[in-house]
Amino acid sequence: MIFSTAVAVLSVASFVRAGTSLNIAAIEAHFNNSGIVPSLLSTFDPSATLNVTFPGVGTISPGQALTKDQVASAPQLTVTPANSSITLSGNYTVTMVDADVVGTDESKGQTRHWLVNGAQVGNGSNITTTSGTVITAYAGPGPASGSGAHRYVILLLPQPANFSPPSNLSSPNTPLGVFSLNGYISDSHLGQPVAGMYFTVEEGTATATPSATSPVNTASLSSVLARQTGSTSASASATGTPSKSGSSAISSFISGPITLFASLLGLLVL
Ligand SMILES: *[C@@H]1O[C@H](CO)[C@@H](O)[C@H](O)[C@H]1NC(C)=O
Ligand SMILES: *[C@@H]1O[C@H](CO)[C@@H](O)[C@H](O)[C@H]1NC(C)=O
Ligand SMILES: *[C@@H]1O[C@H](CO)[C@@H](O)[C@H](O)[C@H]1NC(C)=O
Ligand SMILES: *[C@@H]1O[C@H](CO)[C@@H](O)[C@H](O)[C@H]1NC(C)=O
Ligand SMILES: *[C@@H]1O[C@H](CO)[C@@H](O)[C@H](O)[C@H]1NC(C)=O
Ligand SMILES: *[C@@H]1O[C@H](CO)[C@@H](O)[C@H](O)[C@H]1NC(C)=O
Ligand SMILES: *[C@@H]1O[C@H](CO)[C@@H](O)[C@H](O)[C@H]1NC(C)=O
Repeated sequence: MIFSTAVAVLSVASFVRAGTSLNIAAIEAHFNNSGIVPSLLSTFDPSATLNVTFPGVGTISPGQALTKDQVASAPQLTVTPANSSITLSGNYTVTMVDADVVGTDESKGQTRHWLVNGAQVGNGSNITTTSGTVITAYAGPGPASGSGAHRYVILLLPQPANFSPPSNLSSPNTPLGVFSLNGYISDSHLGQPVAGMYFTVEEGTATATPSATSPVNTASLSSVLARQTGSTSASASATGTPSKSGSSAISSFISGPITLFASLLGLLVL
């Protein structure tokens, strides 16, 4: 894996705000780069960052490759708003879906690994996923051996006053199964995700070469930062050359340029 150039220039009005904004721009870029946008979500415009912390693993980074043992138990979720004008009161739906390997036709639906309605953000940042209505209890990933690196996407979606889940997905203890994430969002009148994170799990050796991902264009982070912080000006560029085979190479490629970009700034990217 070769990064041919890495250049970063950043001037910020507020270090703390820039950190959150950079993390938000980073997760947006990761969703773009991994094909989650537009194949699973047509757009993703988060207003908060989502920390996902698995017992014994810690807080994960976007696209982190994990084993199924590491993600066997439900993670703790915490959320950090982009700025003080974002409030996270009310009810939220938390879900985790298997978006499968890069290049999957998402119109065929997704395996639902977690679905909680009425989750709330308590004490500043913790998300309660045990109260509310647990429709599908967290079911850890178990991708088929040789099927490649599956992308598991965790989303926080606001429930408006007219939230009404479809009758076939409103009962607690509905087991893991296939559904359409977008069908569910529109049928139940959920809002667009305010925060998200993803990780990958792969079993065995892939028997097919996964679709290519496009390089992270960190230049676009500057426009996102400028849009989110107003007073912030930033510019950055980094290019990477992905390895042609191997999904672990792809997932490290996905995180590589952004991590490099952030480390130049001395910031920790989610
Ligand atoms: C993600 O892609 C969308 C268009 O699909 C673009 O508007 C947005 O700026 C991109 N975000 C980042 C951080 O690359
Ligand atoms: C706060 O963050 C949101 C979402 O990123 C952004 O749309 C809004 O402009 C920001 N507000 C301020 C005052 O920075
Ligand atoms: C999120 O995770 C980062 C990295 O581990 C940590 O620095 C930050 O404090 C966490 N935020 C919350 C709200 O837990
Ligand atoms: C949150 O959900 C609970 C349980 O369904 C409901 O009683 C409450 O009114 C909801 N709150 C909001 C702000 O929608
Ligand atoms: C918030 O803190 C209070 C008091 O420490 C505790 O009783 C409550 O369970 C906490 N709620 C959440 C969502 O963590
Ligand atoms: C958040 O949740 C974690 C894990 O359940 C707990 O250890 C921590 O005390 C909680 N923090 C607050 C502020 O409630
Ligand atoms: C629930 O019913 C809707 C139609 O109302 C259907 O499109 C969807 O596939 C069903 N979901 C499940 C999980 O059976």
